[in-house]
Amino acid sequence: MPRGDLAPKISLAGVGKTFVTRDREVEALQPIDLAILDHEFVALVGPSGCGKSTILNLIAGLLQPSGGVVSYDGMAVSELNRQVGYMTQKDTLLPWRTAADNIRIALELKCRAVPRAEAAARVAQMIDLVGLTGFERHYPAELSGGMRKRVALARTLIYEPETLLMDEPFGALDAQLKLLMLDQLQELTRQRRMTVVFVTHDLGEAITLADRVVVFSARPGRIRTVRSVDLPRPRDVFRIRFTEDFSHLHEALWDELQDEVARGTDV
Ligand SMILES: Nc1ncnc2c1ncn2[C@@H]1O[C@H](COP(=O)(O)OP(=O)(O)OP(=O)(O)O)[C@@H](O)[C@H]1O
Ligand SMILES: [Mg+2]
Repeated sequence: MPRGDLAPKISLAGVGKTFVTRDREVEALQPIDLAILDHEFVALVGPSGCGKSTILNLIAGLLQPSGGVVSYDGMAVSELNRQVGYMTQKDTLLPWRTAADNIRIALELKCRAVPRAEAAARVAQMIDLVGLTGFERHYPAELSGGMRKRVALARTLIYEPETLLMDEPFGALDAQLKLLMLDQLQELTRQRRMTVVFVTHDLGEAITLADRVVVFSARPGRIRTVRSVDLPRPRDVFRIRFTEDFSHLHEALWDELQDEVARGTDV
């Protein structure tokens, strides 16, 4: 492995976040340290409200930390981070644009130089990749929740970002479709050697995809455990959950996660 591959792509050093609103302060994240390597796939799991989306917002440069430093390629992230594609938890499709036009918007915003024909070809390729052929001209209100998620995914992938931030991207999909999407995501991120930070509530999904799984404690978020997933790649996303290695890892992490979910709801 070349030396450069060992330098962290993303680093959070002593990063904490407290939100100050009109009448109170919410400590979302206690100071944490986390380094994510180039081409690494890291999954973040933890109870609701433990700061997972906040971490993605910090890496994307949409938020600034209350303490510590978030770095990307060795530089502090002080403004919008244009190296990342961010699929946010809530989709932000424009209701007045069709599925295809929503996907195309990334090319319009990011690199206006893409000629129309090339943009159209890339949109068609993305529509095909996320399995939305036939729905190009549908408006968001005419799509199911899962379809909207797939439009948002296509919009994030179309400009080929080197790093993907994904916040529960497949939560709304049915089990079979979710597996298909996981398979495609694995293939795509391997092919393009992307760095991925993937937030999910689904521990099985995290283990299936990730090189490392980070379990967070209940709010205020702290890192409780980091586990490497040493399952060989490429992984058979349809069957890996039936293997012994998978279930051992799942069981170990499940216990830790359950502890925190219980603490998180113990108000
Ligand atoms: N802009 C904000 N202003 C005030 N408080 C916020 C803001 N964003 C997040 N918080 C608070 O910070 C905490 C962490 O929120 P965050 O959205 O990061 O959690 P999460 O782990 O993504 O949860 P979920 O799994 O439910 O999506 C929560 O208590 C939330 O209310
Ligand atoms: Mg969230």
